[in-house]
Amino acid sequence: MIGAVLGLQFGDEGKGKISDFLSDKFQVEVRFNGGANAGHTVVANGEKYKFRLVPSGSLRCETVILGNGMVIDPLALIVEINNLMSSKCRAKIKISKLAHVVTPMHKELDKKEEEVRSKLSLGTTAQGIGPTYEDKYARSGIRMTDLQNLEILREKIEIIYRMKLNLLSGTEFSDAATRERIAQDLHRAGKELEPFLEYTESTIYDLYKQGKNILFEGAQGTMLDIDFGMYPFVTSSNALAGALSLGAGFPFRKVDYVIGVVKAYMSKVGAGPFPTEIHGEQADKLREFGDEYGTVTRRPRRVGWLDLPMLKYSIRMNDVDAIALTRLDTLGEMDKIRICTSYKKNGKELNYIPRSFQELEELELTFMEVESWGKLDPEILKKHDYHLLPQKMKDYIRIIENELRVPVEVLSLGEGRENTIVTQGSRLNSL
Ligand code: IMP
Repeated sequence: MIGAVLGLQFGDEGKGKISDFLSDKFQVEVRFNGGANAGHTVVANGEKYKFRLVPSGSLRCETVILGNGMVIDPLALIVEINNLMSSKCRAKIKISKLAHVVTPMHKELDKKEEEVRSKLSLGTTAQGIGPTYEDKYARSGIRMTDLQNLEILREKIEIIYRMKLNLLSGTEFSDAATRERIAQDLHRAGKELEPFLEYTESTIYDLYKQGKNILFEGAQGTMLDIDFGMYPFVTSSNALAGALSLGAGFPFRKVDYVIGVVKAYMSKVGAGPFPTEIHGEQADKLREFGDEYGTVTRRPRRVGWLDLPMLKYSIRMNDVDAIALTRLDTLGEMDKIRICTSYKKNGKELNYIPRSFQELEELELTFMEVESWGKLDPEILKKHDYHLLPQKMKDYIRIIENELRVPVEVLSLGEGRENTIVTQGSRLNSL
């Protein structure tokens, strides 16, 4: 089976946990977008693992691949690989030669660009993501394969520096010795990473031909997609299912199962429109129950109620086959639960998601309220039986399925792998 796991909200839906959970069914996992702005937490056998660049299935997969659509900080990647090697990871790691390289200059540019944006700043993760994609599309970017060649590295660093002089002058990078040090550091990292570098679009196709189950893992979420998210408060890559084709170099028609990961409520880091956001005491409670603080930045996440109109859009855009619903345990701790059921303007229901500042200001939301199911009984959790779950939780799931017309096939009821249920009818059971 060729599958994809994608976030359908603003990122942080729990994709890392779901990818790890599925890694005993898929032998290969591939990331196709973003970089160390992603932070995936996996809890396995009581231990916590944090992934930022390597796919979250790394603990159990045979092969994990960092695709060409990614932007990679080679120094951070070496640290992550070394950590993995010293833990229980036995996966073969492959990195696309065509992925783009994040340098310390890009991280500086990320901060400087935010300063210039001022009131319109996005609250980026400051990982150099935007500036690295800018260079890729300006055709002055550094690719992983360039790390082998010190002369090319020096030249490209000079080009980037000169193109971004207005932002970089007066920083440590205006010193030629600093730029030379970056070139040397990257070259050294390139030597260390050389055994992992391949034209991974061919590797993936070979694995497909061998009949391996392959899972493509999207970072961020549909509402952070550069084209279809809440622009400009988005990341700099495409996060939709279609992006896997270009970000991994795999034919999109061969993907046969798209899993959309949905958090049972909503969260968002960074600035920008968030229609169902909750404020005040209720928000504080939900944030604390869910430990909603950014994995990369530890910034407190904004939280909100489940947004069905937004999910209908994400499901259509990604052609989702099944939903993995996460954090049902957290949501149950709230006394009352609300769900946004429609978007309206002047009292008339909208059949689209407005994305202009003006339209978003005029947006009216309709909510329904449902009863909470309370804290989960650990004994029931251990039985892994959907039928034993609280009726009120099953009612919540039924509302989601009826409204979205997609089955919820995976339920996440706690951070560990063992707190996950796959429903009886799911195609995942045949793997
Ligand atoms: P950037 O990707 O660092 O440029 O950040 C752009 C926006 O996307 C900011 O609002 C970030 O908080 C958000 N963002 C980027 N990656 C993630 C993620 O993995 N989870 C949640 N939000 C993210």
